[in-house]
Amino acid sequence: MEVTELKQQQGNYQFPDNFWWGSSSSAPQMEGAADVDGKTQNIWDYWYEQEPNRFHNGIGPADTSGFYYRYKEDIALMKQVGHNSFRFSISWSRLIPEGTGAINEKAAAFYQDVIDELLDNDIEPFVNLFHFDMPMVMQEKGGWESREVVDAYRDYAAACFRLFGDKVKKWFTHNEPIVPVEGGYLYDFHYPNVVDFRRAVQVGYHTQLSSSLAIQAYREQGQDGEIGIILNLTPSYPRSSDPADVEASRIADAFFNRSFLDPSVKGEFPHKLVDILRNEGYMPVYTEDDLKVIRENTVDLLGVNYYQPRRVKAKEHTVHPDAPFMPDRFFDSYEMPGRKMNVHRGWEIYEKGIYDILVNLRDNYGNIPCFISENGMGVEGEEKFRDAEGIIQDDYRIDFIKDHLRWVHKALNEGANVKGYHLWTFMDNWSWTNAYKNRYGFVSVNLEKDGERTIKKSGEWMKQVVQRHGF
Ligand code: BG6
Repeated sequence: MEVTELKQQQGNYQFPDNFWWGSSSSAPQMEGAADVDGKTQNIWDYWYEQEPNRFHNGIGPADTSGFYYRYKEDIALMKQVGHNSFRFSISWSRLIPEGTGAINEKAAAFYQDVIDELLDNDIEPFVNLFHFDMPMVMQEKGGWESREVVDAYRDYAAACFRLFGDKVKKWFTHNEPIVPVEGGYLYDFHYPNVVDFRRAVQVGYHTQLSSSLAIQAYREQGQDGEIGIILNLTPSYPRSSDPADVEASRIADAFFNRSFLDPSVKGEFPHKLVDILRNEGYMPVYTEDDLKVIRENTVDLLGVNYYQPRRVKAKEHTVHPDAPFMPDRFFDSYEMPGRKMNVHRGWEIYEKGIYDILVNLRDNYGNIPCFISENGMGVEGEEKFRDAEGIIQDDYRIDFIKDHLRWVHKALNEGANVKGYHLWTFMDNWSWTNAYKNRYGFVSVNLEKDGERTIKKSGEWMKQVVQRHGF
């Protein structure tokens, strides 16, 4: 069935009573208080200090929405928009300022309070351990290139489980681990702005290993919740059924989806990827013991972030043998004629992608329990949609959510093991180098008025959806 047909269908989209409804967020994008109460710098604080002009309107990570100070007010708003669950991340550089060793008691008390406040409001905390925010002290030791940092991360994860594991029952080791590989080591949109395929492969491999080691630590402590990873899955669609296009899209899929999906869920790296790395001489440094850890510590639960598909065609020009090795040596990207766009973010909107992911997980990944851990629409200049009552009339966001939820619903009816839907994000926040350019929240944050929060029309709508278990 095509997208348009499903969209036009009116009717009742009913979800299970225990479906997880809520939103997701991250510490560096929401907390603010970047150098307060003992927190040390992470790579974003540092990079901003070095190159503030790389950030939209020169706004840096110290100016995020101020959840550190306003979490009680914000959690009350979550309750108002009907959340039964909420994902946030712990900042490693806040909890363990030196990266290893002593816990920052003020930070532990803050996260404890946030967890208690959520539970008191019947909102289940989903806690993620790493959201692109490597502590600077750890980056100085080599970041994810360094095995020492992998072990330090495992200890940090173990400390989080010990501190908060009695109350938090849903844990995630990483958010979108491929993004720091791409941003930091291939395409220059994260610190340390390296462009080097060999180093990127080592970073990717060590990040996966760190996830598996954290899962091992969780189970060794006898914790009784669920632990998983959050992946941004971008289904790869070939331009045509021509075998060259299909092969190109499979390679892109191996690099950008299966590189973390397969080891996280199945305990092994995809052969297609390993064959390329081996043939081209780019295998990372690894040990058999580490591969055993990866094999034995797969996830209980998978978070799926979905924003856009990847359109791929066969490479049209051969790459000069001396050109730096990059994944796109094997494929070109392709703009589908007539595609629908989120023009603000420059991303294609293709709602059926969310269904294709869920069906793929059902058919090829043992129907692993999963949920939509991010989906959302970043829009520039939303203030112009504020009405006389001060409410942002974001009907486009409601339509975006509905259009995706219809496909989630279809997948659910066809046996996909999908347990919830979280929007990115709860309230407008700071989006890395885009800073406050695009707004994503159910709740607006007015930077002109000291960060004043106002529930948008989509937030009011979501409350009804949760009450009715659908729309
Ligand atoms: C996801 C991330 O990639 O998408 C978030 O987990 C991010 O951190 C979100 O903010 C939206 O992307 P962006 O780049 O527009 O903020």
